[in-house]
Amino acid sequence: MKAWPDVAEILLEEGTVQNRVAEMGRRISQDYKGRKPLFVCVLRGAALFCSDLIRHVDLPLRLDFIAVSSYGASTTSSGEVRIIKDLESGIEGGDVILVEDIVDTGLTLSYLVQNLQNREPASLKVCTLLSKPDRRLVDVKVDYVGFDIPDEFVVGYGLDFNQRFRNLPYIGVYNSKPEDG
Ligand code: IMP
Ligand code: MG
Repeated sequence: MKAWPDVAEILLEEGTVQNRVAEMGRRISQDYKGRKPLFVCVLRGAALFCSDLIRHVDLPLRLDFIAVSSYGASTTSSGEVRIIKDLESGIEGGDVILVEDIVDTGLTLSYLVQNLQNREPASLKVCTLLSKPDRRLVDVKVDYVGFDIPDEFVVGYGLDFNQRFRNLPYIGVYNSKPEDG
């Protein structure tokens, strides 16, 4: 597929992403056999990943959403995290799988994990499509990782820059050069 002008390079083709997501879903189905996990999708970035992922999970699962404050227009983390929209489900005593788009510094994830742990689920695992290990500022355990990627700002398949590019079916490196005009 042809890259958009703002996308410098395609990092992960649509088929590559889809194959890996299917694999992750099958893996989770095996690991949680006999259980009924609650998938917690972190809005908005993980929406596409999570909706594809759960279609490959053969379990009586439930789905809920949580939204946290994001970077705004910047491509670097402010370190400030705040819940904008909370879960509708209680999670005490349940098996929870937190689904993220990308773990960068790890600040967002460590906040979310701490916040959810305080609600005393029976178990809490983290599943992310992407991880940038070189960028980590805090040590946070991630149980399922789709792809480790280099330290580049990426867009597509749910990930945005200024709310754009979420609809790309592939994951591309954002072209940070100033736009013409
Ligand atoms: P962290 O708190 O630094 O780990 O950042 C996590 C959040 O930052 C993710 O959920 C994304 O919303 C955003 N983010 C980090 N890196 C990227 C990127 O390369 N492209 C788009 N969003 C990103
Ligand atoms: Mg985000």
